[in-house]
Amino acid sequence: MSETNNTQAEAGKASKSADAAKETSYGQAAANAVMPHLSKDMLASVDKLGVSFVTDAGPIKAVDDITFTIPRKSVVGVVGESGSGKSVTARSIIKLLPDTASTSGAIYISNKEGTGELDALKLSGEQLRQLRGGEAAMVFQEPNSVLNPVFKIGWQIEEGLRAHGMKDKKELREKSIEILKKVGIPDAETRVDYYPHQFSGGQKQRIVIAMALVLNPGLILADEPTTALDVTVQMEILDLLRLARDEFGASVLIITHNMGVIADIADQVVVMYQGHVVEQGDVEQIFYHPKDPYTQRLLASVPRIGEKLVVKNNDGSVVKRSVDWRKEPVVVEAKDMSVTYPGRLMQPDFVAVNKVNFEIHRSEVLGLVGSPVLASPLRAVPSPACKRSATAP
Ligand SMILES: Nc1ncnc2c1ncn2[C@@H]1O[C@H](COP(=O)(O)OP(=O)(O)OP(=O)(O)O)[C@@H](O)[C@H]1O
Ligand SMILES: [Mg+2]
Repeated sequence: MSETNNTQAEAGKASKSADAAKETSYGQAAANAVMPHLSKDMLASVDKLGVSFVTDAGPIKAVDDITFTIPRKSVVGVVGESGSGKSVTARSIIKLLPDTASTSGAIYISNKEGTGELDALKLSGEQLRQLRGGEAAMVFQEPNSVLNPVFKIGWQIEEGLRAHGMKDKKELREKSIEILKKVGIPDAETRVDYYPHQFSGGQKQRIVIAMALVLNPGLILADEPTTALDVTVQMEILDLLRLARDEFGASVLIITHNMGVIADIADQVVVMYQGHVVEQGDVEQIFYHPKDPYTQRLLASVPRIGEKLVVKNNDGSVVKRSVDWRKEPVVVEAKDMSVTYPGRLMQPDFVAVNKVNFEIHRSEVLGLVGSPVLASPLRAVPSPACKRSATAP
């Protein structure tokens, strides 16, 4: 069973008491002290979080004393270079860290209704199971690591519901069909009985988001949810995360390297660098008035058309290309290139590439871009749009 299924459905093992626990934990918190750390409009707050790992080479401090907040019904984007601690931070929120991890600080998270708060780092057992899936659900980068290939997707969606005490088979099925429709899976009544391999990559990510949404959690943690997907599918997945915010009333913490994604979807941005939060602000402030030098460098590194041909040395001097690729000889020329896979078992041939033309000059970098292909026999695939790009030698 996959990691997310385990965590989000883990509560199933204690399904009978899950709802009762929900009332007890947050209810009690509400009764004792109504959200002492969170204001009414805050869903969660990461307070001086530190995470270290014990390794053979000694302790590694992955995250050091970080503080930021997640407002209700908002999308918070987390950006930062590789290894800056983004995933460790997101995983800390649902305590999905290995045994080698030790944590300090606190992560206050409230329920969707705003009637109580708990420190996620202090949770264990029933309360932790209730938090995972019920209050906060994770969407990972790679849907294949989440979906179990041997179970029908309907069953996998229902697993989370069973975990929270829903038993009626008809009701379970209706709920999974309803959520599949919500996330845009066509013909959901039939496809609820399909296996993961019968869906495209983008559809699988939709199903993973459906699994996260079905329990109506207050917080969706999305770690690079669009990286493995084609740009056009990426946009659809971002629309779904907006749906999570605007229709389901959830907050979304989205981790991405893509500043375009941040500009598109985030209300607030948290910038991380080497295990620290260097800046948090509204998306406009971060883009138009970044305060921290690292944020400024991060934004300056986003490629822009026209600027790409300028390559600078460390001292800021411009490196000129020694040759103009347009004047160089052609080293590869594709003319009416087609690739056809012969049909098997009475199926027609599949034309994968249909009469594609392009040339590559010496010293040229040619980018090939294109949209995803919906597999349908006999479909003539349009020639991918060929876009030239050049880099310094
Ligand atoms: N289980 C672990 N054991 C030891 N060190 C770890 C473990 N998980 C993460 N780290 C370390 O913690 C630091 C932060 O890792 P993290 O995965 O959060 O980075 P990230 O910002 O998500 O990077 P990326 O953008 O590449 O996904 C890294 O130095 C990483 O090597
Ligand atoms: Mg990561």
